[in-house]
Amino acid sequence: MELELSNKIFREDFDHNFFSNHFGKQYLHKKNLVNNFDEIVSLEILDDLLSKTNIWNNYNFIMMLDQKKISYNDYSSLSFDITGSNNRPNVNKVQKLVSKGASIILNDIEKYNSNLLRVADELQKLTHGRCQGNLYFSMASHQAFGPHFDLHDVFAIHFEGKKIWNIYENIENSPINHPAFRIPPEERVQRAGKLIDQVTLNPGDLLYIPRGQYHDALASEDGAIHVAFGLTYFKPIDLMSSIWEKFILNQFMRNDIKQNSSKEELKIILSKFSKEIGNIIETDETLGILENNLKNWPYPIEEYSIKNLVLEGTRYDLSKTVKFHKRDNKSFLISGSNEVLVPSKFEKITEFIFSKQYITEKLLMSEFKDISRKEIIECINNLKNMKVLY
Ligand SMILES: [Fe+2]
Repeated sequence: MELELSNKIFREDFDHNFFSNHFGKQYLHKKNLVNNFDEIVSLEILDDLLSKTNIWNNYNFIMMLDQKKISYNDYSSLSFDITGSNNRPNVNKVQKLVSKGASIILNDIEKYNSNLLRVADELQKLTHGRCQGNLYFSMASHQAFGPHFDLHDVFAIHFEGKKIWNIYENIENSPINHPAFRIPPEERVQRAGKLIDQVTLNPGDLLYIPRGQYHDALASEDGAIHVAFGLTYFKPIDLMSSIWEKFILNQFMRNDIKQNSSKEELKIILSKFSKEIGNIIETDETLGILENNLKNWPYPIEEYSIKNLVLEGTRYDLSKTVKFHKRDNKSFLISGSNEVLVPSKFEKITEFIFSKQYITEKLLMSEFKDISRKEIIECINNLKNMKVLY
């Protein structure tokens, strides 16, 4: 039980209060929420990550100084490795900029840290959203961004140092990634409205900011690190691309509209247009597509477990074309019209193998303690030679 508790990422569950009063509506600061946060991300872990030089490029390694993006050329150099020559962040250039107060942003960071991947998995399960995490490292009093809103919910987890977040009163309505929602910095300051709260994040704290809520962050100690997990959810507009083919297959949609149509004729076309769209969308088939889209929306998160494979030993799968059959107190293996008698000493073990989808030597050893390892291996080898196991 104790082990289970210490394995939990969050000390407490996101309760009814979170879902009814904050989720999608209003920011929330949860102090000291993350268990063992220093084992997830620390300055040492950051150094380790940064030192994996060949995973970084101009998409996932961004540097900023006083709210301006630094050109990738200013902190990278040509580096040679097994994949050839690539422009990678240069340790000396990066460190020099950091010592002058520059911030580092590492995008998609959960892909390179299994503990962050577990956090992403947990947040996907909690919200049914699609999660992507970006790490922000910043030096004291150097602001990476001014007041802004994000296009997704943000679950910011703080790991090192202290950071003060300003929360503004205004929330943009359902913004998405489209030029219509790109607002210049000066206008953003005005649209943000009044400052309503200043939240100090300490290591282990979480700050939830719903999509659209204006905010900004200011590091108040050198070496502050937080990871912002962005959660996006499926929207009606996302369904459009999934049902686009249905519009193409609808003959009305492909008909030509006469150039010299009268206003009345055009009105009739629009009314038919709206009906056809309704007919396409309000069907069980489209309902199925929507349900499927929602189900498959979160990113699949799978971790390797080679250790378990090693512990389990070599795995043998059972052929689907061979059947085990008992007749007149004898056992046979049947494949098509071929039939082979199973030697009596292997009858029990073969019957057991056919009750499973796969077996391992260890599984057979623990199941048949009275049979020697030599005999078990002999039985496996016979079945392998007959292509019953593979
Ligand atoms: Fe943000």
